[in-house]
Amino acid sequence: MLLGVNIDHIAVLRQARMVDEPNLLEAAILVSSLVDQITLHVREDRRHTNENDLKDILTHCKSIVNLECSTSKEMIDIALKARPFRITLVPEKRQELTTEGGLNLNLKNLKDIIKTLKDEGIEVSLFIDAKLENIHKACELEADFIELHTGVFANLHSAIFTNILKTPYAIKELDVKKDKLFKILDEELSSIKDCALKAKELGLKVAAGHGLNYKNVKEIVKIKEIQELNIGQSIIARAVFVGLKEAILQMKELCG
Ligand code: PXP
Repeated sequence: MLLGVNIDHIAVLRQARMVDEPNLLEAAILVSSLVDQITLHVREDRRHTNENDLKDILTHCKSIVNLECSTSKEMIDIALKARPFRITLVPEKRQELTTEGGLNLNLKNLKDIIKTLKDEGIEVSLFIDAKLENIHKACELEADFIELHTGVFANLHSAIFTNILKTPYAIKELDVKKDKLFKILDEELSSIKDCALKAKELGLKVAAGHGLNYKNVKEIVKIKEIQELNIGQSIIARAVFVGLKEAILQMKELCG
């Protein structure tokens, strides 16, 4: 399974002080020497990475660069100018801490946006919730790739297998009996599996990501139709303790 490392979280640290430390390009060069893909999300509010980072990374890194961005005209223009290997289209809300759900595939101009990007030789991926109707729609829209949102799975996994429900980070709706949590976790995993299988059958390439960590990733790695994972927060968090290289190598080992 290929691993893409999302480096936004390094830029978050830089932006906390508005200085050039940690240096994002230095991190990107190290990441690109270890994994198949660097992912960065240039947000409309530039809260972490920006177009200068994108340009630097495209100029100096050898690995595939996957730019996550919204479908706004401003972002699509940036994407067309930079021409990274792949664009992953994601929904974006100003107030959210991180991407909260999959893209609305009924957006009016989505098919045109995908075509425009593909005509420039850019591979297009859609970040979507794991629902079969989304797979069919992604195929109709002629996307190359889908990235299945694993956030719901990740929240359920930590509600069952960690103490999170007793902490201030608990998600209230998940404070239900364990057997119910196990049942919804099973259902969510089945949806992810079914979607990955259907997408592959329809000729789409399949990635997954969001909320994956060193504990829960094993369940997703078992799904053979998923060819790539995009992981950020947990790797960068572990890097604080063991260093970036070691944190990435540990995740690579789990990805097999
Ligand atoms: N994939 C997409 C589309 C995302 O928006 C994010 C978060 O930026 C990730 C993967 C990585 O998620 P995490 O940081 O929780 O590993």
